[in-house]
Amino acid sequence: MTRDLGQEQSASRLEYQPPRPRGSILVTGGAGYIGSHTLREFERAGYHPICFDNLSTGFRKFADRFVFVRGDLADRAQISRALAAENPQAVVHFASHALVGESWENPFKYYHDNIVHALNLVEEMRGLGVRFIVFSSSCATYGIPSQVPIPESHPLDPINPYGASKMIIERILRDYDKAFGIRFVSLRYFNAAGADPDGTIGEHHAPETHLIPRLLDVVLGRAQAAQVFGKDYPTPDGTCIRDYIHVMDLALAHVAALEYLLGGNPSAVFNLGTGNGYSVLEVIRQVVTSTGKEFPLEIAQRRPGDPAVLVADPSKARTVLGWSARHSSLSEIVDTAWNWHRGKHLVLKLQAQENDE
Ligand SMILES: NC(=O)c1ccc[n+]([C@@H]2O[C@H](COP(=O)([O-])OP(=O)(O)OC[C@H]3O[C@@H](n4cnc5c(N)ncnc54)[C@H](O)[C@@H]3O)[C@@H](O)[C@H]2O)c1
Repeated sequence: MTRDLGQEQSASRLEYQPPRPRGSILVTGGAGYIGSHTLREFERAGYHPICFDNLSTGFRKFADRFVFVRGDLADRAQISRALAAENPQAVVHFASHALVGESWENPFKYYHDNIVHALNLVEEMRGLGVRFIVFSSSCATYGIPSQVPIPESHPLDPINPYGASKMIIERILRDYDKAFGIRFVSLRYFNAAGADPDGTIGEHHAPETHLIPRLLDVVLGRAQAAQVFGKDYPTPDGTCIRDYIHVMDLALAHVAALEYLLGGNPSAVFNLGTGNGYSVLEVIRQVVTSTGKEFPLEIAQRRPGDPAVLVADPSKARTVLGWSARHSSLSEIVDTAWNWHRGKHLVLKLQAQENDE
């Protein structure tokens, strides 16, 4: 927004400093679910985000109002060209394979791609003198927690190749900081959910493994009965409890993390969650309320490796980054997810055509 100072403010005119444009930020995976919401928050905060994405699971249209580089992190020359051309202040690294089940079917894909792509990225950053990176990590690095809520100091003991790949990348970032002074913030997200309230971007994974979009698919008749995996956990209603964090809150945390780094602070790790968990049955009740539709439920066996409760201790992010969840009530999460989900198939059809162009 341009402020017109006008004649009557001439006394203060000399003191007026136009806002300094903030720098460019290269966002890998910016055409995906969380990345696309984060592009918008960087823009709102005055930065110039550039999306770097191979569109393997993302959508060109999710990033349509931003500079877009179609590139693959497997190819160091493509990364190098993008960094040299855009000269970003920092990199925000979302791009990754991110399906726990698939990481058991194809551990090579997770250990090889996730780790090598991150290495390619930091190595090219080193070569071109880019000094800051914000990394999408996960609560999957903790494994089965021995303490809930989980603080960042909890030991890392992932129980699947996906979580292990994130843990190893965190270790690589630590070593690149020590060796070359590349500062990082690693953000361990809990359960990302919800969508931009404007309904133009949102969650779409194939296959979809996350509870809320799966339930909404059942509501819309695109999937059969909703499955509840285990009703005999040591929780008040017997179903698993998870910490759902609105994707808009995640996006805002990336801006806070970037500003923390640009402010000259040391590398750090933060949990991103609310500190409150909801059970599967509580989420189902909210989906019924938000959509006004009842649907059939099927109680299935527990899935191996599902901890009873996964809830963040988010106090470090509050104290150090000044960030806390503002949009993550269960009703706001499900209402915005529903708003996106109802219209998404039309949007995605157009997007799929554009991705192929
Ligand atoms: N969704 C969650 O609940 C959750 C929880 C914890 C951590 N995370 C992490 O957050 C990040 C983003 O997750 P998401 O749900 O938005 O995933 P997503 O699949 O929607 O987005 C990933 C994006 O990265 C792009 N990409 C993948 N490989 C690439 C490559 N080699 N080169 C360039 N671009 C590539 C994809 O096209 C896509 O646009 C991931 O790192 C994921 O592990 C997600």
